[in-house]
Amino acid sequence: MAENIQWRPETLAVRGGYPGDKTTNAISVPIYQTVGYQFEGTGHAARLFNLEQPGNIYTRIMNPTTDVLEQRVALLEGGIGALAFASGMAAITGAILNLARAGDEIVASTSLYGGTWTLFTSTLQDLGIGVRLVAEEDLAQADALFNERTKGVFVESIGNPRLDITDIQLWADLAHRHGVPLIVDNTFATPCLERPIDHGADIVVHSLTKWIGGHGNALGGIVVDSGRFNYDSPRFPYYTQPDPSYHGLVFGTLGEAAYISRLRVKILRDTGAAISPTNAYYVLQGLETLPIRIRQESESALYLAKRLQEHPAVSWVAYPGLSDHSHHAQARRYLRNGLYGAMLNFGVKGGHETALHVMDRLALWLIVANVGDVRSMAIHPASTTHQQLSPAEQEAAGASGDLIRLSVGLEHPDDLYEDLAQALEG
Ligand SMILES: Cc1ncc(COP(=O)(O)O)c(C=O)c1O
Repeated sequence: MAENIQWRPETLAVRGGYPGDKTTNAISVPIYQTVGYQFEGTGHAARLFNLEQPGNIYTRIMNPTTDVLEQRVALLEGGIGALAFASGMAAITGAILNLARAGDEIVASTSLYGGTWTLFTSTLQDLGIGVRLVAEEDLAQADALFNERTKGVFVESIGNPRLDITDIQLWADLAHRHGVPLIVDNTFATPCLERPIDHGADIVVHSLTKWIGGHGNALGGIVVDSGRFNYDSPRFPYYTQPDPSYHGLVFGTLGEAAYISRLRVKILRDTGAAISPTNAYYVLQGLETLPIRIRQESESALYLAKRLQEHPAVSWVAYPGLSDHSHHAQARRYLRNGLYGAMLNFGVKGGHETALHVMDRLALWLIVANVGDVRSMAIHPASTTHQQLSPAEQEAAGASGDLIRLSVGLEHPDDLYEDLAQALEG
């Protein structure tokens, strides 16, 4: 794999992690739709189970198709390894459970995807893992939330729905000052726009369901490990004490691969949220065109943002690529190649009811609760994803009634604009 690390993202996206199939010479990554693998004998089987020898055991914890996906995403993110999951939520859950147990705590920014928000404020709390939430820009307050039970920090690189650009370096410094790793959900940026590990992040997670897969046809998630965080500390007994479920293995002895190895052989083994080989293949096929999709979608989003700014029925436009966006300077610092992503928000004059009317007039834009598809999609967060919140909470979450959120796909940008314009003018 070492020689691949030098390749640029466009090359890694189509070639990374796949030297070719040794038995068939297939150039498209084969779908290994198998659950089990035949052992050479009992000795071979025992050595694999005892982690003395690498090799396929059972598809819940490894599969050759999934392995290519894991290697490719790890190369793109600059990590030492990765582990795929059945969905983004499964990946986030696994990433946290590999650090924290009942009585422990996580510090997280409030600028979070709704599903992550409910995982943190409901299910993790039910399991006894406390999550201390703080506004992304309020690092002074965040500093006061750490204690000896804190096991990690969680932020998103581009927050949803506000599209704020997190200062990863400051958050990484904060986490490291307190002796814990920083986890970054990089779903909205993708490694083509930002590589959090380059800015100090220790662990990166993705919903593969969004831009990396890109075609809205397969759920998936992934955790990438930088291999840089040292878990050899009394704060992390998972890594310093013998694990009875692995004959007393001390995971910390696995060195830089300690976190990602434990995630696979312990957390995924025991919780079982594995991606299917066919979904891994769909995601891989999508990933092959990620760099060109992100470029086109970012260019179209900037074009639409500028045109919408001029439309008389539009009161405001929020896009990190616009010079008046509150996080534009941060976006220029963190996002690569002069591209700012496919997500764009705007407000309609007239507020909530007018926004609903505009949504109902859209013909080309699909009304869908998803993002990152090749098809352009619109949603009105206040009446859907953020419906359960009070108007004050909606405002605080950045989901005001006048807001329409767009996920820009690959249709011609003029067709997309003309559909928005006719909806705004109706
Ligand atoms: C930023 C972010 N993270 C995680 C997820 C969860 O991903 P999945 O739907 O694959 O579980 C989503 C889903 O929308 C998301 O937007």
